[in-house]
Amino acid sequence: MIPYKHEPFTDFTNKENAAAIQAAIEKVNGELGKDYPLVIGGEKVTTEGKITSYNPANKEEVIGHVSKANQELAERAMQEALTAFDSWRHVDPAVRADVLFKAANIVRKRKHEFSAYLVKEAGKPWNEADADTAEAIDFMEYYARQMLELKPGKKVESRPGEYNRYDYIPLGVGIVISPWNFPFAIMAGTAVAAIVAGNTILLKPASTTPIVAAKFVEVMEEAGLPKGVLNFIPGPGAEVGDYLVDHPKTRFISFTGSRDVGLRINERASKLNDGQIWLKRVIAEMGGKDTIVVDESADLELAAQSIVKSSFGFSGQKCSACSRAVIVDSVYDTVLDRVVELTNELSVGNTEQNEHFMGPVIDAAAFKKITSYFDVAKEEGKIVAGGKADDSTGYFVEPTVVADVAPTARLMQEEIFGPIVAFTKAKDFKEAIDIANNTEYGLTGAVLTRDRSNQEYARQNFHVGNLYFNRGCTGAIVGYQPFGGFNMSGTDSKAGGPDYIQLHMQAKTTSETF
Ligand code: NAD
Ligand code: ALA
Repeated sequence: MIPYKHEPFTDFTNKENAAAIQAAIEKVNGELGKDYPLVIGGEKVTTEGKITSYNPANKEEVIGHVSKANQELAERAMQEALTAFDSWRHVDPAVRADVLFKAANIVRKRKHEFSAYLVKEAGKPWNEADADTAEAIDFMEYYARQMLELKPGKKVESRPGEYNRYDYIPLGVGIVISPWNFPFAIMAGTAVAAIVAGNTILLKPASTTPIVAAKFVEVMEEAGLPKGVLNFIPGPGAEVGDYLVDHPKTRFISFTGSRDVGLRINERASKLNDGQIWLKRVIAEMGGKDTIVVDESADLELAAQSIVKSSFGFSGQKCSACSRAVIVDSVYDTVLDRVVELTNELSVGNTEQNEHFMGPVIDAAAFKKITSYFDVAKEEGKIVAGGKADDSTGYFVEPTVVADVAPTARLMQEEIFGPIVAFTKAKDFKEAIDIANNTEYGLTGAVLTRDRSNQEYARQNFHVGNLYFNRGCTGAIVGYQPFGGFNMSGTDSKAGGPDYIQLHMQAKTTSETF
């Protein structure tokens, strides 16, 4: 077995690589507007009602149409998943892992095609799309290996005349609900983790990015996944989502998305419904309000670069994005000035030809929400870079820096999920960490310092699931920096971590005497 190593990122300064993704974008342009069915028990189901996916950089351009599930179809999918569970749970874990290895290889061969869909459907720049595709491959490779490791169970003690075993078995039917911001990696990662563990699933992708999910479902079929293991049911979150979360046969829900939807799912899943004989398990990865802290000993150029990249990469639409910069007093002006300079150099526009650092935000609702914070920014601080937006052709928002914001201001507390970063001054490092901790979230954070005692103080006191030193706070790699947050950022699980698969399983003890 080749040891796990993360998928390398593509260097698009290399002309051949640039030509390859350009060719893939051309191919995808030739496929725009196609219809994609639901997949229920292996059957392709086409509905009259559709979800239409648009290019956020070019509002008129249709990426494709996906059939739309309703409660009746969701019920059908549930029954298929229940039937398939009876056989899939008994399939050798090594065979289940092989499906993931094969799927990873299929995607690897069509890597730029998937990235091209991410450019078109989510408005990602090439490098961000490439990272999303690489992460999807990593999840498949990593979770497949993890399943192989778990296959023999875990060691427990046995006394003379006794044979004890501790094995992991699957849970049942899971509902996998994914967000639009990593429309390939998170959607595929959460799906395959559940599947390789021996569960069967109903996959409900975000309605803004269903096409890349439909392409992934095709790959899983090509990789040999039996019918009914993965049922594809895009549909309205409130209608299909609530129905399935409440369903008595739902054994677990794997959700990634906003705090409010996560809380709703958690609450509904806790209610016992007629015919239900278990406590539903909820794996929830929710929002973030992530902070970069800079002290007086830091490399200030690295600090400014890290803040800019973490705040504005993929237009700030990462749960890990930096939206708060907390800088100690003595270096505050230097860091802020350099961040403003760097921000003013960034360009925003359609990323299809990779001419811009930043593309659009995802849709009209996101545009409206993000730009509503410009007024808040003027009340709570001073806009020192950006602050303008244009939705005439696509949903473009300038990278925006807001200075002199109070630690408890709305800009410092609410997840905006767009390219806006607020700056706050701290009198010393300890106060900076207190400010970093003063949100209800706890997903990522970074500390820029050359002072080892400050670094260790942060290691112990900065309460986030992913804490980085002397770099930005985005870009966790599967198997290297397992990812997931504390507090309102979720259920403390770690995607791409050594104990993630077990969240989709239950441990069974057997004891035999001789
Ligand atoms: P969202 O909560 O609006 O939607 C996420 C998914 O939930 C979508 O598929 C949506 O259709 C579905 N949904 C909506 N209502 C539902 C309901 N009542 N029942 C069941 N499902 C329902 O989130 P989004 O806008 O797609 O994604 C952005 C959010 O996701 C941000 O808050 C971001 O921080 C978070 N996120 C977190 C992580 C993480 O790992 N912690 C990763 C990516 C994104
Ligand atoms: N895993 C993604 C990151 O770390 C969200 O940026």
